[in-house]
Amino acid sequence: MDARDLVRSVKVVGTAQGARALRSAWRRRRTDARALPRVGAERARTPGGATGAEPRPGGGVIRFERSSLWVRVAVGGAVFFGWDGAGPEPSYALAGACPEPDPRVDLEPDKDGGWRVVSERMLVIVSRYGAVEIRTPGGVLLRRDLPPRWWEGEGTQEGDGGQAGTDAGTGPEAREEGARSAYARWLQRTELPPDAHFFGLGGRASGLRLREGTYRLWNTDPGPFSPGQDPLYITMPVLMGVADVGTHLVFHDNTWDGHVSLREGEEGLGSGHDRPGRCEVRMSGGPLRYWVLAGPPARVLHGWAALTGSPALPPRWALGHQHARWGFGSAREVRRVAEGYRARGLPLRALHLDIDHYRGHRVFTVDEGHFPDLPGLAAELRGRGVRLVSIVDPAVKAEPGWTVYDDGASADVFVRDGRGREVRGVVWPGVSVFPDFTDPRARKWWGELYAERLAQGFAGVWHDMNEPTSFAAFGDPTLPLSARHALEGRGGDHREAHNVYALTMARAGYEGLRGLVPEQRPFLFSRSGWAGMQRYGGTWSGDVETGWEGLRASLSLVLGLGLCGVPYSGPDVGGFTGHPSPELYLRWFQLGAYLPLFRTHAAKWAGRREPWEFGDEVLDHARTALAERERLMPYLMTLAQLAHRTGAPYVRPLWWQHPRDRELRECEDAFLLGDALLVAPVLAPGVRARTVRLPAGRWYDTATGTAYEGPGTVRVEAPLSRVPVLARAGAAVPVTGRDGSTELEVWPPASGRTGSGLVIPDPGEGWDRPPPERFTVRAYGGGERGPRVVVEREDGEPVPYRVRVRRG
Ligand code: GLC
Repeated sequence: MDARDLVRSVKVVGTAQGARALRSAWRRRRTDARALPRVGAERARTPGGATGAEPRPGGGVIRFERSSLWVRVAVGGAVFFGWDGAGPEPSYALAGACPEPDPRVDLEPDKDGGWRVVSERMLVIVSRYGAVEIRTPGGVLLRRDLPPRWWEGEGTQEGDGGQAGTDAGTGPEAREEGARSAYARWLQRTELPPDAHFFGLGGRASGLRLREGTYRLWNTDPGPFSPGQDPLYITMPVLMGVADVGTHLVFHDNTWDGHVSLREGEEGLGSGHDRPGRCEVRMSGGPLRYWVLAGPPARVLHGWAALTGSPALPPRWALGHQHARWGFGSAREVRRVAEGYRARGLPLRALHLDIDHYRGHRVFTVDEGHFPDLPGLAAELRGRGVRLVSIVDPAVKAEPGWTVYDDGASADVFVRDGRGREVRGVVWPGVSVFPDFTDPRARKWWGELYAERLAQGFAGVWHDMNEPTSFAAFGDPTLPLSARHALEGRGGDHREAHNVYALTMARAGYEGLRGLVPEQRPFLFSRSGWAGMQRYGGTWSGDVETGWEGLRASLSLVLGLGLCGVPYSGPDVGGFTGHPSPELYLRWFQLGAYLPLFRTHAAKWAGRREPWEFGDEVLDHARTALAERERLMPYLMTLAQLAHRTGAPYVRPLWWQHPRDRELRECEDAFLLGDALLVAPVLAPGVRARTVRLPAGRWYDTATGTAYEGPGTVRVEAPLSRVPVLARAGAAVPVTGRDGSTELEVWPPASGRTGSGLVIPDPGEGWDRPPPERFTVRAYGGGERGPRVVVEREDGEPVPYRVRVRRG
């Protein structure tokens, strides 16, 4: 028990829930001590020398004295590397069947006894001792993976989640004949260009750019968190490296606990030598297999979405403003808040009900004392354009006699320990059991329970506590590592299943909703998740601490998750804890208005978050932000569909189109919203003007019309009433006009240039795929009022929208 644990246990002792959390922590420790093997002395294994190779479709297998490496280029350009007999399947990340091998690719002998695989987008060179170089087709080095090392045997306890065991297998289809134990611990060291910056690894709060340090891969409920805390709810072995020579994404397809250590390199050290960047991936078990995608960022994310699935398309209302609170407590309070928005003319699209609307915190129930007619309330709100969204926690109160528990127990869908007993933990309802979502039967059972939520009138779901969290007075607040899971029939334990618990819960919820209302796109977002979670929905910041640091962390989280393929997310506007100052609340609100999920939320014990609770000035400016959000709806709907079709996040780092611009790579305090807009939020108190680093090209301050030329740094006004937003010259942005119809807001291109715009019309609630409409923007002459700007539709059809040209 360390000092933090001690504080945690002292805090909880004395309450009934605290005593349960203490007992649960001891139970977890005892169970694991009994069930998991102890540490043995081990010697590292390396591949040894190459002994031969055999071609396979898309590449081939290179044999070494003590291992083998399968290199397989897939159609579309993603390259798979599997050591020790690991193949790409089975995988929780892949969207469906593994993509076909590229038939044009060959394995060829290289100099010095090595081998090479030549493909359209990447050149792979494997040395005779198993180092792997990944180069651009022109031969420039993107990364060099040194020969890996394995430690077999009983395994070593590494932190709380890091033991390699022997008792479970990933199944024969995952591995080649003669493959080694898939449960060795392993280490892979990589060298990268000295100027490479790192991004990704799931949701990290410390900064968009991942600094030197060690990041754990273990989904964790940190409690209310500040930027220094790591890991958080969503960890993923997905890392993007951005350097002058190119951008690439590497994904280690392994769900076990692990650590990634990063060190940025340095150029021109001493006598002109560079120090390469370093990345070290250490996993506590599971296969050493990874995918690499290379190319410009947009192409890399397109490839990632092709591999792991298209981001789910939220319904239009989920792009509007949403308001939540833990502790609305009653239908009367929900009505009061909805009425507060309506009476002040503030647009609101959804209200979220937290665990306090349950009966005694039991999932899939309603406290009918405080919410006597929930379907009636839902219908009434719906009539005013406000949907209800329900929290859904995985933990089921272990209470014989209550139907959800009884049905689950008799269907045998709850996680069991090695001795066959239901694993008990402690969550909001008290002592609870946990569905095993890695079991298709459990997913089906769970998905059908959403019928109850639909009958109550809910239009969407909000998955929480699914790391999974089980309160513990000390140690890791989750299930015992030795808890058994079905893992799609392969069998295994929590060490392997933990990180995909939320992903598989999301699948259960999504498939359940699809089955129940096939004609509608489900709306789901989830606190925890893993690679591929975007297939089922989005996420949110979790319990970010109220404070200026928390505000900055919220932006890092959204941008970083977008680069891991999860484009729909946003923070608890105002922060989860405490009482934001009016200025902090407003700046958070103004940032949130430009993020995909725009939701105010807070803890039960925290201050209010309604825009009218902070004085008239804040209310006025919040109204402006809400109006702008509404005005941008056609643009947001276009970005959502673009994310769905291409994997490009709505919210992108400034270097998105210019990954070679080193100044932009450093920039963490502004972002692009689609191609057209650059948002420069205010992230510190007292700021009324700020500098903005501009990508190449002309940009207009949308409030003043002033034109600026990038690349460069400019200073713009940032009064309390708004945050700076710049528009790219030549952009045609679909917005809602005063009469409610869509119009194109056009920013004149720089002279001699053309611009463009894209509109993907609202597909409604269903599965339609309206074709994109593309527009070209041209400028002629340069009279007193500026050039004449002409917009044409690329397919020659008439432009179906009113065009409004904005002048500088
Ligand atoms: C967790 C969630 C938070 C929610 C609370 C109560 O802390 O992250 O959003 O309000 O649980 O359900």
